Amino acid sequence: MLNVNNLMVFYENALAVNDLSFEIKQGEIIGLFGSNSAGKTTILNTLSGLTHHLKVREQRKGGTRITISGSINYLDADIMSLKPRDRVELGIILCRERHPVFRDNTVEENLKLGGYLRKAQEIKESLQFVYELFPPLIKLRKNKAGMLSGGEKEMVAIGMSLVAKPKLLLMDEPLLGLSPHMQAEVVRATLEIRKHGVTVMMSEQYARPIMPIIDRGYIIENGTLVMTGTGTELMDNPEVKSAYFGT
Ligand SMILES: Nc1ncnc2c1ncn2[C@@H]1O[C@H](COP(=O)(O)OP(=O)(O)O)[C@@H](O)[C@H]1O
Ligand SMILES: [Mg+2]
Repeated sequence: MLNVNNLMVFYENALAVNDLSFEIKQGEIIGLFGSNSAGKTTILNTLSGLTHHLKVREQRKGGTRITISGSINYLDADIMSLKPRDRVELGIILCRERHPVFRDNTVEENLKLGGYLRKAQEIKESLQFVYELFPPLIKLRKNKAGMLSGGEKEMVAIGMSLVAKPKLLLMDEPLLGLSPHMQAEVVRATLEIRKHGVTVMMSEQYARPIMPIIDRGYIIENGTLVMTGTGTELMDNPEVKSAYFGT
């Protein structure tokens, strides 16, 4: 479904992604692991087009601060120079880190905003799926999103991404700052989302909570891919274990 080859991203002279190649197959749940500053957000932003967007904006201002090279193929098309919006239309949806929501809008308004490129009837169907997936949101429908707990905001953020109709859903540290109970809810929801036909890549600093559900994981250090394998293969590796599982 997605093939990334020799991807490099520089901010000024700092290398954020170093000669990275990986693939995602249809129907997989893929883990992208790495400590703080490893490059997880840059990788997901580059897949969704945000890095390219930032680069173009800076070029317009006369700067050449960001350099991206390599290739990104999605469903057999080269998407490297597509705008974020075009990638959204192709089904690449990013749920950004720290559960971003529109604070002054209600939960339902937020969810609907996720479907800004879709028809009203399609949005309605997706809303139903989101409420089935996260029943606590039903009661919160008319509440301002800014007043919600971190876990509830994350449900809204994932819900917005779903209303955008992903084929490939990229989740950037969805478990960050959540209680163990909420983490388990997000993990459960991710399996349901996959059942719904969506392929998933999720980044995390701590691999343990999502290890049971991933098909494969990629471990990144300083923008470089250092290891890949199935959940079990990664868990069995002593170095990985001490660095990413806290044991
Ligand atoms: N907009 C930016 N401008 C300059 N440097 C950046 C920018 N975004 C990220 N970086 C740098 O790129 C590296 C990777 O960051 P990031 O992708 O945010 O990692 P992670 O999400 O794994 O914490 C870090 O060294 C960070 O400081
Ligand atoms: Mg990040």
